[in-house]
Amino acid sequence: MADETTTSFARDIRPMFTDIDVEHMKGSGIDLSSYDDVQSYAAAIYRTVSNGTMPPPGSGKQWTSEMCERFKQWQRDNWPP
Ligand code: HEM
Repeated sequence: MADETTTSFARDIRPMFTDIDVEHMKGSGIDLSSYDDVQSYAAAIYRTVSNGTMPPPGSGKQWTSEMCERFKQWQRDNWPP
């Protein structure tokens, strides 16, 4: 039986990035649709979404504290795919 108490990149993290996020950040060299990239840049991603600098105002909704916490929990869960 699947462990519902553990976060998953595919189920919980990937859907928090919009098509606009993915498209724009590819131009800056980070593929937010890629497990490997999101894991590699996790600290920077967390910093920008939690301090509200990403996504930039006007290009998407700021992440809620629940979304930021879910991202942090995925790290604590040791990055389940
Ligand atoms: C790894 C951390 C990140 C860095 C260093 C970063 C940096 C940047 C930079 C330098 C730009 C171009 C800014 C501009 O030309 O106005 C940009 C644009 C953008 N970023 Fe990020 N970003 C990060 C994470 C994210 C995340 C996690 C999201 C979404 C949740 C995001 C969404 C966007 C969007 C939507 C744009 C396009 C803004 C526009 O042109 O209107 N970025 N980012």
